[in-house]
Amino acid sequence: MQDLNKLWKIFNEKYTNTGLVKGAFSAPGRVNLIGEHTDYNEGFVLPIAIEKKIIMLGQLRNDRLVQVFDLGYKVKIKFSLDALTPLKKDTWANYLMGVMDEIQKEGYPLQGANLIFISNIPKGAGLSSSAALEVVTALTMAKLNLLEIKPVEMALLCRRAENNFVGVSCGIMDQYVSCLGQKNYTLFIDCRSNDYEPVPFKDPNYQVLICNSKIQRGLANSEYNRRREECKIATEFFKHKLNREIRALRDITIDEYKKYQAQLPEIIARRARHVISENHRVQAGVQALRMGNYSAFGQLMIESHRSLKDDYEVSCAELDLLVDLALKQEGVLGARMTGAGFGGCTVNLLRRDYVNTFKKNIKNEYKKITGINPDIYLTSPAEGAKVLELR
Ligand code: GLA
Repeated sequence: MQDLNKLWKIFNEKYTNTGLVKGAFSAPGRVNLIGEHTDYNEGFVLPIAIEKKIIMLGQLRNDRLVQVFDLGYKVKIKFSLDALTPLKKDTWANYLMGVMDEIQKEGYPLQGANLIFISNIPKGAGLSSSAALEVVTALTMAKLNLLEIKPVEMALLCRRAENNFVGVSCGIMDQYVSCLGQKNYTLFIDCRSNDYEPVPFKDPNYQVLICNSKIQRGLANSEYNRRREECKIATEFFKHKLNREIRALRDITIDEYKKYQAQLPEIIARRARHVISENHRVQAGVQALRMGNYSAFGQLMIESHRSLKDDYEVSCAELDLLVDLALKQEGVLGARMTGAGFGGCTVNLLRRDYVNTFKKNIKNEYKKITGINPDIYLTSPAEGAKVLELR
């Protein structure tokens, strides 16, 4: 990624200095270690922010105009803060407009700005490049306009932008960890209360590796919405069966599930089993990490993948292949698909000594079978969105 000095040089070439507040900001992508498709069921997730990120530079303007230059795609667009409606072309701008719209709807006053941004988070790979774009926009606009928006509020606001403006009904995980990620920690997030707890993940003997299948998450939106509906049906069923307040699948115990599963339509039963068992795996995973038991954590990742593949049916042949290949390698403790599914990435946990052999073998074997060159990224838990020092 280009360094900040170079970026400022480009910024100064693109825009006339307004003499007003300027600043540089960043927000990371994420990889979820365990807890998939649980966030919108008010359950638990355990993601980390990754080292790949978006950097945005900005300067306030005296009017209501926003100009944005996407340095990667070399596209520039302009819009007014008084006319924020979703675009059909240049749809990437909807993430920015949506965030500004939500900030204004909260009653915060905004002035226009000149912005540029650059990203090294692969797009459509399930590493939350869109959440990072939302979060970096929110942070940039908040800081330039001297607004006090707390990280959790910022995450909620970015999620609303994605739900309401972009039209994707995602949960809270991606925006949350992009805002609040911490170096060397995973975030154990309770997606009902929106509380979180950092859990250490810094044993130098272990490494997180992400394998990009290079299959774009084609079906992701429609199937994602369908899974949400199926979870709602299961929740409604348990509401009628159990004599207490049930708000989401989060409220159902495994024993209750077992007692009633035979009365549910087969598909709905499997969807519910995934969510209910995945919530348990996240909590067990947190215990394992607290005790430094990375092998136990790896086992839970393996079980999570099986559940996503067979019960929730959000994997695909290439992701399954990457997981199978990974589990045959020496030094691998766990592997699973990560994110919404239907393509994108797997997340792997392995002993550091085996990283190079793993990379070589997976690249060769995946290429041999699919004809695709996978990308492999090493990452440690990284910091969430932050202000970058000006020079
Ligand atoms: C996408 C959504 C998240 C979450 C995951 C699945 O990344 O944006 O909110 O639901 O899928 O765990």
